[in-house]
Amino acid sequence: MISISTLQASELQKIRVASAYLFSLDHARDDSFIENLNLSTIKRAFRTKAKRYHPDRHQDAEPFEIEKRKERFVRIEEAYRVLRSYVPETDSIPSVTNEKRARIIAVGGAKGGIGKSIFSANLAAYLSGLGKKTVAVDLDLGGANLHLYLGETFLKWNINDFLNKRVSTIEDTLVTSKYGPSLIGGDSSQLGASNIGFSRKLKLVRAIKEINADYIILDLGGDTSYNVIDFFLMADLGIILTTCDPASYIEAYNFIKVAFFRKLSRLFGPESELRNKRDIQLERLLEEFTHSPISSRFKMIDELMEEVWEKHPQHINLLQEIIKRFSPSLLVNRVTSQCNVSQVVKRLQDVSRKMLSINLRYLGSIQQQVEIEASARNLVPMITSYPDSMFTRSMKDLVDRLIMN
Ligand SMILES: Nc1ncnc2c1ncn2[C@@H]1O[C@H](COP(=O)(O)OP(=O)(O)OP(=O)(O)O)[C@@H](O)[C@H]1O
Ligand SMILES: [Mg+2]
Repeated sequence: MISISTLQASELQKIRVASAYLFSLDHARDDSFIENLNLSTIKRAFRTKAKRYHPDRHQDAEPFEIEKRKERFVRIEEAYRVLRSYVPETDSIPSVTNEKRARIIAVGGAKGGIGKSIFSANLAAYLSGLGKKTVAVDLDLGGANLHLYLGETFLKWNINDFLNKRVSTIEDTLVTSKYGPSLIGGDSSQLGASNIGFSRKLKLVRAIKEINADYIILDLGGDTSYNVIDFFLMADLGIILTTCDPASYIEAYNFIKVAFFRKLSRLFGPESELRNKRDIQLERLLEEFTHSPISSRFKMIDELMEEVWEKHPQHINLLQEIIKRFSPSLLVNRVTSQCNVSQVVKRLQDVSRKMLSINLRYLGSIQQQVEIEASARNLVPMITSYPDSMFTRSMKDLVDRLIMN
């Protein structure tokens, strides 16, 4: 695992050159590939290339051809030495948190109107009030309104300016909001604002990860499109909001499931970030499980794992590690007296454990409060307008626990 955001440009360039020699030019350009490099991948690539280019294997070739191969072999050895010096000795999957960059918190949940943006705005305002350098990013590209909840009605710059190259860095779109945090707002009034393609999404993800801050809060759209899920997966901490309504918690479960499937397919499928770990048969199994759950032989991840144990034991550790580390947090919002929070939480935890072996962490709940509607109308975050309200107290309690962990 190599943390690109902590590298100097010259070091990254060295790693890219080395990756081009040991892998390919495409791999060298691919940040997620570089970030996921581990020792065994590097060793395997070195062995393969060394076999192909070792001068002893080509003694019958023309002298100039032997010279070329010798030169290439020296470069391959150098590439191996460079890459080895950047990865730890242990062969593991990427660590969830990186101490040197901002902690990214994503707020998702596949239903609209459940309070994701209100919560994101207040979370950012609270963290900023604690003296933490905080950036709130509106990633609800098709329904951007986070700026309003932070008191900003007009944005000089927004995220589209970065995506459409009107500014050169994402930091150029930062606006200091009235209530503390910096903001990268959105503008959904532009045609196609929410339909960004894969490469622009990667560019955005990379740029957000490099923002210099203590905390970055991502407010997500209310669906399970690839973009929303990929933004959720880039976070160190993923919070899933739900209300007590069945429509909302069923969507919350769907969100968890789709995010988990996406994580699996990004690690093992055609878009694999560990490309040289690709295994077509395993891909087919995962594809069956994640793309056609109704007709699949595997209804639960445990059933799939049994087959992986039997037929692809080399991948079992990585799979188990991914499952263990995929641990989103649940927050129940808009709680009324009719709502049995513990029952909703238990249902979601039970089904996540049974079907996906996922440990869903319960963060807490927030009451339905009329003041929140007033605060949304007045464009002032709750923690500023109603500092002693139940919302503000629940929020502080919850954030304090988040920061401790
Ligand atoms: N705890 C709460 N009590 C009362 N009203 C709330 C609460 N949380 C959110 N709301 C209300 O819900 C409305 C929608 O909130 P918000 O815009 O944050 O939802 P969202 O999940 O971001 O929706 P979308 O997916 O459409 O962006 C707001 O107008 C707000 O007044
Ligand atoms: Mg919203």
